[in-house]
Amino acid sequence: MNAKILGTTETFDTSDVVDPEAAPDTEPLSFSRTLNPTPASTERRAQIHAQPGFGKFFTDHMVSIDWDAATGWHDAGLIPYGPIQLDPAAAVLHYAQEIFEGLKAYRHPDGSIWAFRPEANAARLARSARRLALPELSEEDFLASVKLLVSTDHEWVPSSDSGESSLYLRPFMYASESFLGVRPSKQVRYLLIASPVGPYFASGVKPVSIWLSSSYTRAAPGGTGAAKCGGNYAAGLAAQLEAEAHGCEQVCFLDAAEHKWVEELGGMNIYFVRKDGTLVTPTVSGTILEGITRSSILTLAGELGLKVEERPISIDEWRAGVASGDITEAFACGTAAVITPLGRLVWEGGELEIPTGEVAMKIRGSLLDVQYGRTEDTHGWMQRLV
Ligand code: PLP
Ligand code: COI
Repeated sequence: MNAKILGTTETFDTSDVVDPEAAPDTEPLSFSRTLNPTPASTERRAQIHAQPGFGKFFTDHMVSIDWDAATGWHDAGLIPYGPIQLDPAAAVLHYAQEIFEGLKAYRHPDGSIWAFRPEANAARLARSARRLALPELSEEDFLASVKLLVSTDHEWVPSSDSGESSLYLRPFMYASESFLGVRPSKQVRYLLIASPVGPYFASGVKPVSIWLSSSYTRAAPGGTGAAKCGGNYAAGLAAQLEAEAHGCEQVCFLDAAEHKWVEELGGMNIYFVRKDGTLVTPTVSGTILEGITRSSILTLAGELGLKVEERPISIDEWRAGVASGDITEAFACGTAAVITPLGRLVWEGGELEIPTGEVAMKIRGSLLDVQYGRTEDTHGWMQRLV
């Protein structure tokens, strides 16, 4: 088959492309291991650990797995971190067939290294893959890739005493076939890279200001809002620029149909705290990413004696609730941002100060205590990597 000739029936033959309904490969992959001949020096690593920022520096290695329609997943291996080769006609560059995940490796006081609910990331990657017509990677192979990279680059995991630093893991998958016809790619590459990180916001854990976008929406029913695909983030960047032009750090998106219901921020879910101690978070119904932090807070809040409601919440309820004192706090949550209080809501023609209180920081503390091994993990959320 000549996949590069456009306009023939054969070109658009989809018989051997990924079948979204097909079961993922069941045989576990075996990984080769090629070490980086020029790893970063101990001094360089220490320099990076002293001021990691977010997503700026990367470890010595990455994991790569190839997929093609004929053989499935193959050529799994750990290789030196470095630039990748991509044909200018690679489908991902034209049609954005790409998905990713985000999770962290935490060092515990005894030096061991753990991941927080990584099987949930594996499951979400598989759901995103189905939505973007990409092949599913099994949970077993996903976890094996995480363990291989973190065990090889274990010295890159920041020490536990920093309290806020971790090794951010970014698994992603993209359409690597060079072909300009619009159909699911017959060649795909999965990569896993890792970056030592501090807090997501350069200002640290301070209340962030939020721009309420009225000109842009992030996701529509039937679209890709529930998938973690690069296109969702690209679509939010113009709104992010609008936010910055209005002196805000993040964007809050409303639903696409009625422009009334609060959905989420560009890269975080949202929670409200009411004065009776109830937490409210928007229902995830296809247009919102099902955050792992969001779902963990549902459990932790109950244990802290807080009632939790998952239900639609309108922008009018948010504004009126702050004005009347019924809403006493609002916070964003996600792997990168952990839990970050929201301090100000700005929209075309108005703004309000959002009060801050102790609830967000209390839940934040409980979550970090589990992740950093400072308290017992009663839910079996942590998986040991090293
Ligand atoms: N919503 C969006 C759009 C995100 O990008 C993220 C980050 O991953 C989240 C929510 C929070 O998800 P999680 O808690 O799984 O990191
Ligand atoms: C994460 O929290 O892992 C994300 O992918 C969100 C992004 C804003 C960094």
